[in-house]
Amino acid sequence: MRMRKKPHGFERLLALSDLLYPFEEIIAEDRTAKNSVRLEDPGTVFASEHPLKLEVGCGKGDFICTLSEKEPCFNYIALEKVPDVAVVAVEKYASRRGLGRLGSNGGWVASDGTLYPMGTKYPIELSKRGNTRFAVAEASEFLSGMPDESLAGIIANFSDPWTRKSSYSKRRLTSPEFVLDYRRVLLPGALFSFKTDDEKLFDYTLETLEGSGFSIEYSTRDLHSEKDSGDNIITEYERNFMNKGMTIKKLIARPVK
Ligand SMILES: C[S@@+](CC[C@H](N)C(=O)[O-])C[C@H]1O[C@@H](n2cnc3c(N)ncnc32)[C@H](O)[C@@H]1O
Repeated sequence: MRMRKKPHGFERLLALSDLLYPFEEIIAEDRTAKNSVRLEDPGTVFASEHPLKLEVGCGKGDFICTLSEKEPCFNYIALEKVPDVAVVAVEKYASRRGLGRLGSNGGWVASDGTLYPMGTKYPIELSKRGNTRFAVAEASEFLSGMPDESLAGIIANFSDPWTRKSSYSKRRLTSPEFVLDYRRVLLPGALFSFKTDDEKLFDYTLETLEGSGFSIEYSTRDLHSEKDSGDNIITEYERNFMNKGMTIKKLIARPVK
């Protein structure tokens, strides 16, 4: 699904930049997500020192908004490379946290009614920012800045299958290069969780993980028919695929350290 360009998407991200991880360098460099990563001590980014999980390719953010409310004992980074998609996720998160709403003129209307006109920043106290920050960045660049054994979990939902050409396989978020990075940044015992509708991508991912030092802890080719699927958080893409009658595959893997 192609997103139409968001009107003033960049300024809208700026308004909520206190929820980004971190934002300044995106503006300072080339107004794209490229090279935007400057990893900070999570202790200065989050109000509470919880273990940190990463969602790679968060899309419009339904999943992370729900997960971060359901499991508040973790901090989360939701990573999305397309700024116009990320802005939808950040605004959704801010609204669900009671931090206001997008105004009709593209400004941000805080919960007390104060309007922050488009292009200005809405300052959000650290204690009100909740447990999630959004990173607008390419996953490989972001991961390369991540310290070893720093994450308590990684989640990739419905990542693009890139099946049209074999040379595209490097772009898959479960290519051997990505999987080795996940292995490096995951804490011992931490889990990698993956969902897809795509049979071939699922097979490829199982094979790549097993060939890259992960053990498969759980795997199903029809998640919604499983007894314990009630805990499953449905993502935007998952809902679309379910509506088309497609079965959802899921796996959970653990690095063997
Ligand atoms: C098919 S969508 C799925 C979105 C969401 N996870 C869901 O399940 O509804 C995949 C998302 O991953 C993002 N993405 C793909 N490759 C990425 C990369 N290398 N780095 C960061 N984000 C990426 C895309 O921009 C897109 O928003």
